[in-house]
Amino acid sequence: MSGRRLEGKIVIITGGASGIGAESVRLFTEHGAQVVIVDVQDELGQNVVASVGEDKASYYHCDVTNETQVENAVKYTVEKYGKLDVLFSNAGVIETFVSILDLNLDEFDRTMAINLRGAAAFIKHAARVMVEKGTRGSIVCTTSIAAEISGTAPHGYTTSKHGLLGLIKSASGGLGKHGIRVNGVAPFGVATPLVCNGYFNLEPNVVEEMTLKSANLKGIVLKAHHVAEAALFLASDESAYVSGQNLAVDGGYTVVKP
Ligand SMILES: NC(=O)c1ccc[n+]([C@@H]2O[C@H](COP(=O)([O-])OP(=O)(O)OC[C@H]3O[C@@H](n4cnc5c(N)ncnc54)[C@H](O)[C@@H]3O)[C@@H](O)[C@H]2O)c1
Repeated sequence: MSGRRLEGKIVIITGGASGIGAESVRLFTEHGAQVVIVDVQDELGQNVVASVGEDKASYYHCDVTNETQVENAVKYTVEKYGKLDVLFSNAGVIETFVSILDLNLDEFDRTMAINLRGAAAFIKHAARVMVEKGTRGSIVCTTSIAAEISGTAPHGYTTSKHGLLGLIKSASGGLGKHGIRVNGVAPFGVATPLVCNGYFNLEPNVVEEMTLKSANLKGIVLKAHHVAEAALFLASDESAYVSGQNLAVDGGYTVVKP
């Protein structure tokens, strides 16, 4: 594969201020996309814009749990660029790893609100403008290995990602008649702030070693750019007949150790 694979495409990336989202902003803009970064970390988001160039990306503050803000983020994009081709719904959080016996339902609700309800709100409003403008759009959501298996992440996170996979399948069914595709990208452990700061509270190299040790595929360290490459494929016309799928970027982990 070669050439610029998102030339002329208008893209929203939620959670684009950090980690996998920020890496995707870099890769997608290199491939010719105009990207609107949606996040709540304003300074980090603006830094990503500055690093790729203001002619290629812009930042919009939006909490994905607030439907009005989600609708406004989509409106901002369409007013600025005239259309929306790709939604990469990637914003996410993870909560504390506790026994189901000690489940904190407030933390559970927050994870569900961001990881699942936030994605649903974005799919709704992005798809509306795609349908309205007759755009054969692509919607990609960051799921996780925790969308297919349990025991690797906290209960709320696992539940939210299983739900997100259901939403992907359901939305792809409903949007196919409009020519809109919906898919997921499912990473194994990547050393991003989500994992390093809150979840394990570990240095990036320790997280990378953990993934490497438990991975099936040896000799390669999983990085955010590997996930961004998979998202790029699903966002681009190269996956024109792929919909309702969850592309694992896990070196075979969920197949070998289900
Ligand atoms: N890092 C991993 O190992 C891993 C593995 C599987 C799946 N994922 C998924 O990848 C996605 C990206 O996570 P990451 O690892 O890059 O972590 P990250 O913390 O670097 O990025 C997540 C981004 O989401 C944003 N965000 C959180 N709540 C938000 C809200 N309410 N509104 C708008 N933005 C919000 C954060 O500010 C942050 O910029 C998440 O959906 C996560 O569940 C990550």
